[in-house]
Amino acid sequence: MAFLEVKNIKKSFANTEVLKGIDFSLEKGQVLSIIGSSGSGKTTLLRCINFLEKPDDGEIAVGGETVMDKQAREDQLSEQELRRRRLHFGLVFQSFNLFPQYTAKGNLTLAAELQAKERLKAQRLHKNRDVVEAEMKEISDRADAILSRMELSDKAGQYPCQLSGGQCQRVAIARALMLDPEVLCFDEPTSALDPELTEEVLRVIRSLRDENRTMIIVTHEMEFARNVSDKVIFMADGVIEEQGTPDEVFGNPQSEKTRQFLAHDKK
Ligand SMILES: Nc1ncnc2c1ncn2[C@@H]1O[C@H](COP(=O)(O)OP(=O)(O)OP(=O)(O)O)[C@@H](O)[C@H]1O
Ligand SMILES: [Mg+2]
Repeated sequence: MAFLEVKNIKKSFANTEVLKGIDFSLEKGQVLSIIGSSGSGKTTLLRCINFLEKPDDGEIAVGGETVMDKQAREDQLSEQELRRRRLHFGLVFQSFNLFPQYTAKGNLTLAAELQAKERLKAQRLHKNRDVVEAEMKEISDRADAILSRMELSDKAGQYPCQLSGGQCQRVAIARALMLDPEVLCFDEPTSALDPELTEEVLRVIRSLRDENRTMIIVTHEMEFARNVSDKVIFMADGVIEEQGTPDEVFGNPQSEKTRQFLAHDKK
């Protein structure tokens, strides 16, 4: 069994079947790129994997644990259990989705602080000031370390509107890293950025790959996908039209649809 197993994911909106049964697997530390034309279902797939959308069918397992199984009756799962399962995944959005009223560092610490407070409350430690302060300090130190890794230390106190697009996207990546997801997903992380800002974000993603972070990246940057990935999926009309190594998919595509898509992209 692979580290990440995604089986038979199906999703319809009204009468339109957007995902028609998606199957793939990924080993720990591998990078998967998903390419495909607009409307093929890439974002919907990422949203299903990240529990932001409920698939109609399918199963997802991470590290041997089934985190989603539509065949099992999971409607009764508590909100807390759902949140715990969601934490296996992190998603970085195309448009950053930072909280505008929080500083860069505030964006990193917010979720971790809420999580810690909830845990301390469950352990009945939330009124113990020393314990709470130690916990908050640990979160603050962790945020500082991640901001430093992202070369954003000097931006910690700035608000999103005071940052460039590339810096915002690096804050968004840092925020996702704060919760240390087992699989980090990106939905076109550079498509809202100018070419020079794109490079700084791609550099960060490459460095995460070098640290063996398991990642799924939806991207239109074909050159990048070819260089950074262990595996590439080409999606068309809600199905995986072709998958393989970058050399297979980019160098020797088997499907006519893949060939057309790649030829069009070169123009
Ligand atoms: N919430 C929704 N309600 C209805 N239809 C939706 C919804 N979300 C997505 N769709 C439809 O599902 C299809 C796939 O959309 P999706 O956003 O997954 O495509 P995509 O591959 O990410 O495209 P792009 O490259 O443009 O981002 C589209 O036809 C879209 O209109
Ligand atoms: Mg999309």
